[in-house]
Amino acid sequence: MGATTTTIEAIAGHVGREVAVRGWLHRRRSSGKIHFLTLRDGSGFIQAVVSKAAVGEESFTRADHLGQETSLVVEGTVRKDARAPGGYEIDVSTLAVVGESHDYPITPKEHGVDYLLDRRHLWIRSRRQAAILRVRHEVVDGIRDFLNGRGFILADTPIFTPAACEGTTTLFAVPYFDHATAYLTQSGQLYNEANAMALGRVYCFGPTFRAEKSKTRRHLTEFWMVEPEMAYATLDDATDLAEALVVSIVERVLERRARELEVLERDTAALERVRSPFPRIAYDEAVDILKARGLPFEWGGDFGGPDETALAGHFDRPVAVQRFPAAIKAFYMKPDAERPELSLSVDVLAPEGYGEIVGGGERLDDYALLLERIREHELPQEAFEWYLDLRRYGSVPHAGFGMGVERVVAWLCGLEHIRETIPYPRMLYRLTP
Ligand code: 4AD
Ligand code: MG
Repeated sequence: MGATTTTIEAIAGHVGREVAVRGWLHRRRSSGKIHFLTLRDGSGFIQAVVSKAAVGEESFTRADHLGQETSLVVEGTVRKDARAPGGYEIDVSTLAVVGESHDYPITPKEHGVDYLLDRRHLWIRSRRQAAILRVRHEVVDGIRDFLNGRGFILADTPIFTPAACEGTTTLFAVPYFDHATAYLTQSGQLYNEANAMALGRVYCFGPTFRAEKSKTRRHLTEFWMVEPEMAYATLDDATDLAEALVVSIVERVLERRARELEVLERDTAALERVRSPFPRIAYDEAVDILKARGLPFEWGGDFGGPDETALAGHFDRPVAVQRFPAAIKAFYMKPDAERPELSLSVDVLAPEGYGEIVGGGERLDDYALLLERIREHELPQEAFEWYLDLRRYGSVPHAGFGMGVERVVAWLCGLEHIRETIPYPRMLYRLTP
């Protein structure tokens, strides 16, 4: 009788039966009489117990010399064992090496972060890094389910674009054949607005690029952003949607990725508090809070990392800050009718110092005013004619936002730095591997 091939994740369904697990050797120790192999297969980790009586002299000796990350197929019987990490063990009957591995460069000792980042293609095999990537997957899946379930249509926006969306200082220029310069998209928003006029409620979800010259723990040069956009919607509609989306993702990760959060030693109590309603404050009030907390902040300025941390520290869950000064926001923001120096914008700040996770608002839907803004910002009008068309032909109030996947993952996983939230981070001094 052949053994059933299974994943470690599904091992609980095979207690008392012969299974085959195909994976890699994570760790190895021996008592002399018995070798304990910790296997990983991508879905989880399990201890395999190897005795001479069960596998024979040759395999037994070989098992004691396997290098870390040797790939192997192990067959054996699954045993429930409360003392085992994960709750199950395999009593090995046969063991076959698939690919040898010698002198694996990432050992259980401490390595510096640059050393690890240089070996990111291997580092992702570690328990912690794999847990983070699983949380990331859950976040992405949760976003899609949430939006699809609310009638949003996925409409992809281009990565090569002819003009800026989020200011001209963070553009990556790429030669586009020999007749033009393309810019890697900073946000799909402008196209999203056109798509919303065609489809009602839409989203785009893909990589976005910012030539961020700063080295902070919150910035990547390539990051993934989900951007929902709604026709016939206001600033508060966008804020409501952002709040519901964040709550739904946090709930889902708590529910489905408890094991990963445990590996990451994440304090989940802080995440359990993420419930509706989020506090909503005006930028004006945010300034008062910062001043009361003794920060040297003046009305009109944009929040830096320490300001966001201080503001978030004032609340026990994410906070939505609305109505930033128009001068510090993008050209497409609609002004507040009562106080035109303000924009109908919203940022959602995560707790525990993770900063802005959502940025968005209501869009400028008036043709004449938009044209004025494009000129003020010295943007090339020709490149925005199509965008102006949306205001020429049946303009409606509309709103949306962008949420950065990596910022959310860093927060949910409780990470020091955003660089571990994406398989291959791109930063000012990091383009490899
Ligand atoms: O606030 P941002 O710049 O907003 C926009 O791009 C809008 N056009 C989105 C929209 O309304 N459709 O970026 C949105 C979010 C931020 O809140 C943050 O989560 C993330 O994208 N983000 C970054 N994440 C990682 N590295 C960076 N350099 C980021 N810049 C923004
Ligand atoms: Mg922003």
